[in-house]
Amino acid sequence: MPDRPLIETVDLVKTYRVGSSTVKALDHFSIDIEEGEMVAIMGPSGSGKTSLLNLIGALDRPDSGTVRVKNVEIDRLGEEQRARFRKHNIGFIFQFFNLIPSLTAIENVLVPIMFEKEKPTRKAADLLERVGLGDRFDHLPGMLSGGERQRVAIARALINDPLIILADEPTGNIDSETAREIVSLFKELNDEGKTLVLATHDRLVAGRAKVMVKIRDGRMVRGKAHSRDGMMSLSPKEGGGREK
Ligand SMILES: Nc1ncnc2c1ncn2[C@@H]1O[C@H](COP(=O)(O)OP(=O)(O)O)[C@@H](O)[C@H]1O
Ligand SMILES: [Mg+2]
Repeated sequence: MPDRPLIETVDLVKTYRVGSSTVKALDHFSIDIEEGEMVAIMGPSGSGKTSLLNLIGALDRPDSGTVRVKNVEIDRLGEEQRARFRKHNIGFIFQFFNLIPSLTAIENVLVPIMFEKEKPTRKAADLLERVGLGDRFDHLPGMLSGGERQRVAIARALINDPLIILADEPTGNIDSETAREIVSLFKELNDEGKTLVLATHDRLVAGRAKVMVKIRDGRMVRGKAHSRDGMMSLSPKEGGGREK
């Protein structure tokens, strides 16, 4: 069997109904993402970035089309299997951090495994140290800066050793200096073999990604790959996907 991409979306359509109106968030969106890639999905507000990440991360289901991750059609799984899939494969990072205000930094890092008997507290501590928060274990989110909160969120995303990290506007609420550090951290994770998909309209973030894909009105408008020997242009394949 030929190797398939780690993440494959084919002809994704996602619409939202609000009252009597419908919004098409994704319009036959196809993309292949290989294991070990760092891909930036760029597009203006409302272009469908969050909808796409939610489908790749099995937080939502498409109206039609397929999301295949590790060769499993995750859109066909039942709720319980989807939860298990997320837990073992995906680390999520959000624009507004989504930390629990009443929990300390280290407790927040442990949230994805809060129902497990054995709490890997040592690992959570190591992760916080790794993101530069070795002296903030017991701080509540309210005592931390935006950049520090996002680091806690990154440590939380790593607690299950996910194969894939999905980050939705990860630098949307932090200053540009801190954003630079966060992006370096992403780069490090990518160098270690993690696959990253970043939705962003921050050029700084997108510029560090190996692959940049542009989305508008739920459609891919342009894909670009960076390679060591210069830039390689990619054109959307039939159905809006990206060629290698
Ligand atoms: N839960 C929702 N209910 C209704 N409309 C939504 C919902 N989520 C997103 N949309 C609409 O779908 C389109 C794409 O949104 P989104 O995926 O959030 O784009 P982006 O993340 O690029 O800003 C937008 O027009 C948005 O208003
Ligand atoms: Mg969004």
